[in-house]
Amino acid sequence: MAIQQFKFFCLITSIVIYIIIITTLRAPGINKSVPKPWGPPRICPVHFSEQTITPLNNTKHLLVSAYMDQRVNGLDIRIIGIFRRDSIQPLHCFFCCVDHLSRTRIPATILQHSDNFGFPFVTTDVMCQIPQNCKATHVTLLPQSEKVISPEQIWLPIRNQKTNGKEKRKLQFNFTVCISNLFGDYNNVLQFAQTLEMYRLLGVDRVVIYNTSCSPDLSRLLQSYSQEGFVEMVPWPIDQHLNPSRGWLHSKHGGDLHYFGQLTTLNECIYRSMDRSRYVLLNDIDEIIMPYQHNGLMPLMNMLKQQHPNTGVFLIENHIFPKIPLKESELDPVPQWKGVPGFNILEHIYKEEPNRNIYHPHKLIVQPRSVEQTSVHEVIKTFGQMFKVPPDVCRIIHSPISVPTPPVLEKLHKDTRLWDFREKLIPSVNTVLRRAGLLHY
Ligand SMILES: *[C@@H]1O[C@H](CO)[C@@H](O)[C@H](O)[C@H]1NC(C)=O
Ligand SMILES: *[C@@H]1O[C@H](CO)[C@@H](O)[C@H](O)[C@H]1NC(C)=O
Ligand SMILES: *[C@@H]1O[C@H](CO)[C@@H](O)[C@H](O)[C@H]1NC(C)=O
Repeated sequence: MAIQQFKFFCLITSIVIYIIIITTLRAPGINKSVPKPWGPPRICPVHFSEQTITPLNNTKHLLVSAYMDQRVNGLDIRIIGIFRRDSIQPLHCFFCCVDHLSRTRIPATILQHSDNFGFPFVTTDVMCQIPQNCKATHVTLLPQSEKVISPEQIWLPIRNQKTNGKEKRKLQFNFTVCISNLFGDYNNVLQFAQTLEMYRLLGVDRVVIYNTSCSPDLSRLLQSYSQEGFVEMVPWPIDQHLNPSRGWLHSKHGGDLHYFGQLTTLNECIYRSMDRSRYVLLNDIDEIIMPYQHNGLMPLMNMLKQQHPNTGVFLIENHIFPKIPLKESELDPVPQWKGVPGFNILEHIYKEEPNRNIYHPHKLIVQPRSVEQTSVHEVIKTFGQMFKVPPDVCRIIHSPISVPTPPVLEKLHKDTRLWDFREKLIPSVNTVLRRAGLLHY
C-alpha cells in the first residue's frame, strides 16, 4: 500500500511539475504567435482587406469600404468604390455570414455618382441585398462571368452593423469635420493648428483627415493630434493606384480622378460618421464654419433644427479672407509663432463680399443619416430638405493661401469674428505646437 501511494504521489507530482513547466515555457510564446481573434470565423475565406483602397480583381475598379445601409428599400449593403466608367460590367455580391459562407450570388445594383467632371474614374456605390439567414460580416464582389470565389479573393468588413436590440445608441460625437484630401508637400502648419483648435472651441469632437501625403512638420502635428484622439488619420494612397488629378476638371487638368478622389473621401467620411456623429461638416482645412450669433455649433444647430425640423442639409456661404498687409497696431504679434511654417489666420480680417450674381459656392453641415450621395458644394441625393443658412447667422471664414485675383481694398469689409476667440485660441495653439515639438521660441 505504502509503495503504491508513494508511486501515485510521484506520478501526481511529476504531472503537476510537467504542467507547470509546459505552461511557463509556452505562455509567453502563445501571446506572440497566435494573433488576436479578429475577422471572419474560419468557415469563411481568410483574406480580408486592411487597406483603405483595395483593387477589385479582374476589373479596373477600386473598392474603398462597405457599410450596412438599409435606408433604400430592398437593399442592405452599400460598397463605396472608384470605378472606371468605360468598363463597368455586371457584378455579384458574395457574403460571409457569422456561421457560414453564403454561396448565393446576389446581383449588384451599380450606381455611378453624377459628378464625374469628365474624368475616366468616378465614385460609385454598389448595393446589394443580404441573403436570407445570413448575419453578414464581410462582403466581396465578382464579375458576373466568374462563378467561383478564389481562395485568394479579398473581402471587405461590413461596417455600421446594427447592434442587436440597442437601436437607439448614444451618439459618440456631436460634430465631425471631414477634411477630404491632404496631398503634395502641404505645410501650412500654423493655419492647420489654429483651424483645428478653432473647431474644438466651436464644439467639434472629431476631425477625419484623408492623407495621401504632407510635409514632415505637418505630419508630426497630425500624429500628435491623432494620438490624443481628436484627429482620425485615414491613409489615402490613391497615387499608388491611379494618376489622380490636382484639379477638378478633366478637360483642363487631365488625370484619372477628380482632385485626388475628394468626392469619394467625402462620401466615405459621411458613411463612416453615420452611426456615431449627430452632424458632419464638409469643408476644407482653410475654412472655418463660423456661427455669428451663437458661441458654438451646438446652439446654432439647435436653433436651425427648431426652425427647420425636416432639413438634413444646411448650406453655408463661403466668404474669402485674402491676405493683405495689416496695419501694425491692429494685432499684437505672437512671438512664439515666429518660425512655425504657415500663416496666422488672425491676420486675415478683411473679407470680400461675395458676388451673388455669379455662382457662389457653399459648404455643408449635414445630418449624415439624411445623405445618400454628396458632392463638394451640394448634396446629390438626400432624404431630407436643404436650407441655405443666412450669412449673418453662419458663414465660412475662408483664408486661402492665395486668391486668383488680387483683392481690391475698397471692396473689402473688416470682420474680426475670429478675434472673439483669441484669448482661448492662442494658448491652445501654443499647447499643441509645443506638444508636437514645433515651437522653437
Ligand atoms: C486574381 O485573379 C487571378 C486570376 O483569376 C488569381 O490567380 C488571383 O489569385 C486573384 N487574386 C485575388 C487577390 O483575388
Ligand atoms: C453633445 O451636445 C450635448 C448638448 O449640448 C451635450 O450634452 C453632450 O455632452 C455632447 N456630446 C458630446 C459627445 O460632446
Ligand atoms: C501621411 O501620409 C504620408 C505618406 O504616406 C506618411 O508618410 C505620413 O506619415 C502620414 N502622416 C500621418 C500623420 O498619418
